[in-house]
Amino acid sequence: MALILGIESSCDETGIALYHTDRGLLAHTLHSQIAMHNEYGGVVPELASRDHVRHILPLLRAALSQAHCELGEINAIAFTQGPGLSGALLVGASVACSLAYALDIPTIAVHHLEGHLLSPLLSDPAPEFPFVALLVSGGHTQLMRVDGVGHYTLLGETLDDAAGEAFDKSAKLLGLDYPGGALLSKLAQDGIPGRFKLPRPMLHSGDLDFSFSGLKTAVLVAVQKNAQDEQTRADIALAAQDAIVAVLIKKSLSALKLTGLRQLVIAGGVGANQALRAQLNQAAEQQNFNVFYPDLEFCTDNGAMIAFAGAMRMQQHAAQRDYRFNVKPRWDLQQLNYAA
Ligand code: KG4
Ligand code: ZN
Repeated sequence: MALILGIESSCDETGIALYHTDRGLLAHTLHSQIAMHNEYGGVVPELASRDHVRHILPLLRAALSQAHCELGEINAIAFTQGPGLSGALLVGASVACSLAYALDIPTIAVHHLEGHLLSPLLSDPAPEFPFVALLVSGGHTQLMRVDGVGHYTLLGETLDDAAGEAFDKSAKLLGLDYPGGALLSKLAQDGIPGRFKLPRPMLHSGDLDFSFSGLKTAVLVAVQKNAQDEQTRADIALAAQDAIVAVLIKKSLSALKLTGLRQLVIAGGVGANQALRAQLNQAAEQQNFNVFYPDLEFCTDNGAMIAFAGAMRMQQHAAQRDYRFNVKPRWDLQQLNYAA
């Protein structure tokens, strides 16, 4: 039985959570920097770091008060060690390690994508190992076979842009704010199906890899060739979303077929996309497999997934009391396979 504090600060969200191994998630607090980065059209790393510094302790105090807990009750601190922006990661790592030193408790260094991968286990019903996971965030698009905590096999990944990036870049071309995934999806609701047909890159490549950079070019051409009235923008948005979603679904179904598994887990920010969810649910019903999503609030970056991944890894003796910290801005998830 343990109370784990989780700290996420890898990009533009400061997330704090308290997860109890018996009682579940007790509290989580979040500050998103989206509004601050918006005017620059993307995340400004130095501003991100400074904002994490400003918010991390107030969010921690708020989480403790939400959970009716004292600092002294925390048994271990999990923090995102990477991948992500180094300055932003350093804020979370330094707070985690100094607080753990002061409290004389261990720390657990968590891989951000492992947090995303395991986040559907916070929901009810939760998937059981083994499953196929489609990890679709702003920085990553990967299909993984997950045999247990720490047992991850890469099945396929993007060769260029991530799915979230494809959403964001298409959105930017349509004049939407950053990050544009959710905004593009909202605009697409008014789109007329079939008016534009954009390429579905690597749909028939026969492997489980993705490529989205060509789609961005196709969106650019469609934007340049057509007057940008509200309807046309919605139609292009719908076509872009359709193309991304079609490729994600086709490759996920191929991964299920290849592995013979019947459970698919969707993780990462793009997992919030309603068109993706609706079409996957339909495919699951028709083809008799189960699909699991994190709760909407745990799709994008958050502290709960880090606290939870920390709790899982603690069972595998990943907690340690060496308070010297380093961060890993680039870190391959497969290097994590630590469980015997
Ligand atoms: O997982 P996440 O919060 O951060 C990373 O680790 O990258 O994912 C953020 C990404 C962004 O690209 C954002 O545009 C996308 O997830 N996203 C969406 C939606 N909500 C967030 N993309 C499509 N539809 C959405 N509803
Ligand atoms: Zn993320």
